[in-house]
Amino acid sequence: MTENILIAIAWPYANAKIHVGNITGSHLPGDIVARYHRLKGNRVLVVSGTDSHGTPVTLRADAEGKTIEEVYQYYHHTFLDVFQQLGITYDLFTSTHTDNHFKVSQSIFLALQKNGYLYTETRPQWYSPAANRFLPDRYVEGTCYICGAEGARSDQCDVCGNVLEPDKLLNPRSKVDNSTPELRDTEHYFLDLSKLEPEVVKFLRARQDHMRETVLGQSLGQIESEGLKPRAITRDLDWGIPVPVEGWEGKCLYVWFEAVIGYLSAAIEWAQVSGQPDAWKDWWTNPDAKTFHFIGKDNIFFHAAWWPAQLLGTGAQFLEVFAGESGQPLTLPYDVPANQFMNLEGRKISGSRNWVVDGLDALTRYDPDALRYYLTINMPENRDTDWDWKEFVARNNNELVATWGNLANRVLSFCYKHWEGHVPDPGPLRPGDEELLATIDAGFETVSGLLSSVKLRPALQETLRLATEVNKYLDVTAPWSAIKTDKAGAAKTVYTALRAIDSLKTMFSPFLPFTCEKLHTFLGYDAPLFGEQYTQPITDSLGTHTGLRYREANASGKWEPSQLTPGKALRQPAPLFKKLEEKVAEEERERLGK
Ligand code: MF3
Ligand code: ZN
Repeated sequence: MTENILIAIAWPYANAKIHVGNITGSHLPGDIVARYHRLKGNRVLVVSGTDSHGTPVTLRADAEGKTIEEVYQYYHHTFLDVFQQLGITYDLFTSTHTDNHFKVSQSIFLALQKNGYLYTETRPQWYSPAANRFLPDRYVEGTCYICGAEGARSDQCDVCGNVLEPDKLLNPRSKVDNSTPELRDTEHYFLDLSKLEPEVVKFLRARQDHMRETVLGQSLGQIESEGLKPRAITRDLDWGIPVPVEGWEGKCLYVWFEAVIGYLSAAIEWAQVSGQPDAWKDWWTNPDAKTFHFIGKDNIFFHAAWWPAQLLGTGAQFLEVFAGESGQPLTLPYDVPANQFMNLEGRKISGSRNWVVDGLDALTRYDPDALRYYLTINMPENRDTDWDWKEFVARNNNELVATWGNLANRVLSFCYKHWEGHVPDPGPLRPGDEELLATIDAGFETVSGLLSSVKLRPALQETLRLATEVNKYLDVTAPWSAIKTDKAGAAKTVYTALRAIDSLKTMFSPFLPFTCEKLHTFLGYDAPLFGEQYTQPITDSLGTHTGLRYREANASGKWEPSQLTPGKALRQPAPLFKKLEEKVAEEERERLGK
């Protein structure tokens, strides 16, 4: 049965470049799972975009003395660039600063209001007498009232990971000028999360069979200890989405309220630009569709509790408000496979201290699949991991090059040379040949199980283990020497190994798409495994934003064992990967922290 799979990846703030921690945290796992489902023949939609509102972006503009527009456009383009070069195949990577996103977010607001989940209240908010304005939560730092850590932002503490109630922060200071803010009254809309708490708990419990323990534990734990409390969903700001209520000019929707709505609005935008305006409903108002949210652990609350609460509160009312239609309620997330963090050489990644491996910069020196390999084999799925340059070089050389790359290259070159560029005719296979093929074919089941339950690191390990099996088989059968005395026997071996390599190509392809496409052409295929990516300028009343798109047309990859036939013409092979010199690790370490 064909499944509808929505791959929803966290929207990066337009305030910093994308580094390896971000890539392994959300974008890469999302892409691997998307590619796997495409090979399975499922209907996949991958969406995300630039989170262009919110104070992380305005703070950056202040710091750089640029307009917010300039800052958001600049980072947006660096994102598109890194995704295209790394092969992160978004069906649509857009932005929250679009006409469509404004309308969809305002519709959700109005739907929640109609359903009775919003109310207004006047509350104290940090106000800067020095700057004569209200300060957004992130502009205020101080001591966390839960764990006592210094340097907590008023809305979130990075040390204990809790989302904070801003007015409870201790020893507050303005990040703009270090002055002490004071609390002043202002009126805001609140989302009454407490009313939705029982449904959110029910939603989480219903996913206990497949959601990660880290995600369930944190979400249910927080709800059990503090409960879901009402939260303000508007702010005193002028950069963002206007509150769609008369008399509320000068206030905007809270960035977290609207950014998560991006998963819905991007699907709607994708449907529009693809010329099938209703297609988004196949994921969003289809109870059988499966939505996966790829995020880092710092975003768990917002995706496992807050966003489901918004969806539960909105229900079928969104269709009413947005399109004047009746229909199914919006689909709840199926899984939230949040990753832990990746550190760098034993320390927390920090862009401002240049303790970072920037994606675009790394791509100038390393091939995308070498990076994808290390980021997957070292993915922080259950605990924090560490990017270690020495390990990067070692794994590249010992695993990617030695175990997999050499296997493919060795067999293809040997075959190309001795069988005039064609797949040999093996005649009847021997029991040992059949056994190897059975082992490899069984991998489609095992690896499939791991990929569909988002255990990507074990899935890649298992695929690599299968490659080791082929190497062992070749050690025993040794076609390189057998050919001198028994060419027919060598033909059986080479044919068997080629089929195994062809199957492994498919299994490796969600992880290593660039080199698997190459290998696919060496094996004589014409149509590519996957579709292609391109950028598209999309213009609306707010301006032009460039979207990253993916076009499935012509893709031929299928999640099934090789069908390689005797006599098939191959293409001249070449090595898939590059061996790295040991000194690379030292050179890279030298760059850090400078
Ligand atoms: N911009 C947020 C961050 O970088 C993530 C937002 S995810 C979304 O932490 F769903 F809200 F868009
Ligand atoms: Zn804290």
